[in-house]
Amino acid sequence: MPWLRIRLKTGREQADSVSEAMERCGALAVMLEDAGDEALFAGPGHDSPRLWAQTSLSALLPADIEPTRFADEVAALLGIDKPPAWETDLLPDQDWERVWMDRFQPLHVGADLWICPSWLAPPPPPAISVVLDPGLAFGTGTHATTSLCLEWLATHSLAECELVDFGCGSGILAIAALKLGARSAWAIDIDDGALAVTCENAVRNEVHGRLTATLPDSLPAGIQADVVVANILAAPLIELAPHLAALTRTGGVLLLSGMLEQQAAEVGLHYSRNFIVESCQRDGWALLVCRKTPSGD
Ligand SMILES: C[S@@+](CC[C@H](N)C(=O)[O-])C[C@H]1O[C@@H](n2cnc3c(N)ncnc32)[C@H](O)[C@@H]1O
Repeated sequence: MPWLRIRLKTGREQADSVSEAMERCGALAVMLEDAGDEALFAGPGHDSPRLWAQTSLSALLPADIEPTRFADEVAALLGIDKPPAWETDLLPDQDWERVWMDRFQPLHVGADLWICPSWLAPPPPPAISVVLDPGLAFGTGTHATTSLCLEWLATHSLAECELVDFGCGSGILAIAALKLGARSAWAIDIDDGALAVTCENAVRNEVHGRLTATLPDSLPAGIQADVVVANILAAPLIELAPHLAALTRTGGVLLLSGMLEQQAAEVGLHYSRNFIVESCQRDGWALLVCRKTPSGD
C-alpha cells in the first residue's frame, strides 16, 4: 500500500503544535527536519533551541486521505483560518526501519579508520573500526565538524598519547583515538545523557578500561593531555580558551571544531597567544589545528 506524505514549513514556535495537530488528524508519523541550513548545538549560556528557525514537517498518512480535508482539519485544530502552504507526494510502501538503517553506511576516514553501525559487519583488520549507532548524543562522523577531527586523528600518530575530548557527545572522537593507539582518554560533556552514551559506546568498542567520562567540573585539577579536541561551537570555544589552553601540554595539539568558516579568524585570535594556529575547511565549517608552543605556558 502506498503512503501519502504531506510536507509543510513552519517557524520554530509553531512546529510542536502543528506536529501534534497533524497526529491528531490521523498522521501515523510526523518527521521534523531543518528547512534551512542551521546547526543546533547546546552549551552553557548558549542554549540552542531544540528546533530550527525554519522547520519542515513531513506527515505520513494512508494514501486514501484527502489532503485538502486533512490540511483544513489541521488548521481548524490550530484555530487558524487557512492551513500553511503544503505539498504532497506518494511514497511506495517500504520497510521503514530498513530504509532508516540503510541510510547509515560505514564511514571510511583516512587510510584505516572506519565508523560502522552495529548492524553491519565491520571491515576486517588491519582496518580499525569504531562501532557506533546513531542515537540521541551528537556524533556519528557524518557531520563535517566531526569528520574534520576524525581525519586529523586518523592521519597522525597517537601512540602513547593522552587525549581529552571536550564536548564528547557520543564519544566518537575519544573512542576513535583510543582505537588508533592513544593510551588514555578523558571524555567530557555537560550533558549526563552524552556521558552515559559515551560509556556504552566505550564498552561496545572495548576501550572502556582506558576512557574516563566526566562532567567538566569533575575533571581533576592539573590534567594535561597531548591532544585535546573540542567540537563545540564558536562562542563556547572562545569562552573556554584559557581552560582548553591549560589542558593542552606544551608541544601538544588542540583541535578546535564546530565553528563556521567565517568565525575561524575570531576564534583563532583567542588562542594565538599560546598556540600556532592553522585552519582547514569543509562544507562551510572550519577546524583549527593549534600547536602549543613553549612560550604559550
Ligand atoms: C557538536 S557535539 C560534538 C560531539 C562529538 N565530540 C563530535 O565531534 O561529534 C558538542 C557536544 O559538546 C557538549 N558541550 C557543549 N558545550 C559544552 C561545554 N561548555 N563543556 C562541555 N561540553 C559541552 C554538548 O553537550 C555536545 O554533546
